[in-house]
Amino acid sequence: MIIKTEKEDQCMRFAGKVVGETLKLLQGKVRVGITTAELNKIAEAYIVSKGCKPCFKGYDGYPAAICTSINSQVVHGIPSKVALKDGDIISIDIGASYKGYNGDAARTFPVGKVSDEVLKLIQVTEQSFFEGIKFLKAGAKIGDVANAIQVYAEQHGFSVVRELTGHGIGTSVHEDPAIPNYGKSGTGATLQENQAIAIEPMINLGQRYVFMWDDNWTIESQDHKPSAHYENTVIVTKNGCDILTL
Ligand code: MF3
Ligand code: CO
Repeated sequence: MIIKTEKEDQCMRFAGKVVGETLKLLQGKVRVGITTAELNKIAEAYIVSKGCKPCFKGYDGYPAAICTSINSQVVHGIPSKVALKDGDIISIDIGASYKGYNGDAARTFPVGKVSDEVLKLIQVTEQSFFEGIKFLKAGAKIGDVANAIQVYAEQHGFSVVRELTGHGIGTSVHEDPAIPNYGKSGTGATLQENQAIAIEPMINLGQRYVFMWDDNWTIESQDHKPSAHYENTVIVTKNGCDILTL
């Protein structure tokens, strides 16, 4: 969506703020023994308490408010009775809509004591987002952002998942254009001032290949090695971007 009115701007910013707050709330709840269903319940209650809707719920039939993806699960894991264990990592992806305008963001958190290599994966995934947005401003090409993410992740010896991408966002969670996390600088569509997009690197410790579970949602790395996810909804500005979901 290209934001054109004050109302659209305010609603997008509020939805984004609530998503960011929900992620912070869950960060404080992540610990050994908590189940992903419990995290889902806490998130949904918070989103609703702020006058928002959990916009993932019912999206293409998705059955929960948030996505919880453990260890080698890349994205779209469904909350369940599975409890977090010491040494796990968990990627939490949250969406909230306010008056029909959507925010979408994700973080990966360590549970208890996690190996240095996996902590590095989490840090590099987060930093790859910030490397990407160094190139983001009105007039930039999608490939400029995508290439910066890919180069940074691969320089650190990790690999970029290619089957899933970031996306435009607005009155729908997923809008055009796709925002891949790999590609060539100077290629792809031109980003416009006031365009709302979600940028979301998904980075694997091992090979980049993934497969989908029989639940038709959960995406896992093919080599079963850990994967991390970091996402924010942003608005493109003249000279950079505003991050709505921090
Ligand atoms: N942040 C996720 C994505 O962009 C949204 C998941 S949508 C749902 O892919 F279908 F899982 F709800
Ligand atoms: Co997204």
